[in-house]
Amino acid sequence: MAATAIEPRQESAAAATGPVLEANNLRKSFGGIQAVDDVSFTLGQREILGMVGDNGAGKSTLIKIITGAYRKDSGEVSLDGEPVEIESTAHARSLGMETVYQSSGLVEVMDAPANLFLGREKLKEGWLGRYFGMIDKRFMREETSRLLQQLNITVRNLAAPVQTLSGGQQQSVAVGRAAYWKGRIIILDEPANNIGVDQQRAVLELVRQIRDEHGISFIMISHNMEHIFQVADRVIVMRNGRKVGDKPIGETTRNEVVGLITGALA
Ligand SMILES: Nc1ncnc2c1ncn2[C@@H]1O[C@H](COP(=O)(O)OP(=O)(O)O)[C@@H](O)[C@H]1O
Ligand SMILES: [Mg+2]
Repeated sequence: MAATAIEPRQESAAAATGPVLEANNLRKSFGGIQAVDDVSFTLGQREILGMVGDNGAGKSTLIKIITGAYRKDSGEVSLDGEPVEIESTAHARSLGMETVYQSSGLVEVMDAPANLFLGREKLKEGWLGRYFGMIDKRFMREETSRLLQQLNITVRNLAAPVQTLSGGQQQSVAVGRAAYWKGRIIILDEPANNIGVDQQRAVLELVRQIRDEHGISFIMISHNMEHIFQVADRVIVMRNGRKVGDKPIGETTRNEVVGLITGALA
């Protein structure tokens, strides 16, 4: 069978030019803490946007607003130029935003096919699926196998629980899942934090590959300057809830970015 597991996204002509995501004047406080303080930014089509900042700078809160995990206090989010009220993580997902957290977000005791189709299980054709809810395990296994092959991820035993995969493979499966489900924006919150160096490289390569081949945009939160400078097209810097830097990667340096993070350049 020649079908590919990830089909190229059909771009609408109108959506082809402007930013895929635009956030304007977002604010969110917790009690007296202004976690996100009047932050605006854009994410371009096919862009890999790096996001950096110290612990507590507001990176995760910003992402959680955009992905529907938190309600913003004020501000506006637009997708393809259309303002949207993102009401839940499920709503964000239905709009094409997928998040991959540090812990890969997979269910560790389930196998890769079950994880790929988690909450979106494929039912068997006909009455077996319709009336008995029987799951088409063979389809799910074949799709998973094809996806992993496409992404150059080697999983010896597809029926093994994903906890037996390496941390990097688990993250790759999580990124692959986001791409498989036609995510148009994939958000990685410190993806390569607790995995080995080789595996980190593999995850970063996968991000590049998925961007290049499928035109998906990424927001990548990372503490690692090397990772940011290796894959990001642009970097935004958060500090104390505010955006204090926003630069194309070719127009800044590691030193400048670190200075913005620490406030030495403020
Ligand atoms: N659910 C929450 N309740 C209370 N305070 C929170 C919550 N989430 C984040 N914060 C606070 O908001 C600020 C920003 O946190 P966060 O967005 O997690 O930063 P980062 O991801 O950059 O480390 C911190 O001061 C943090 O303690
Ligand atoms: Mg965080």
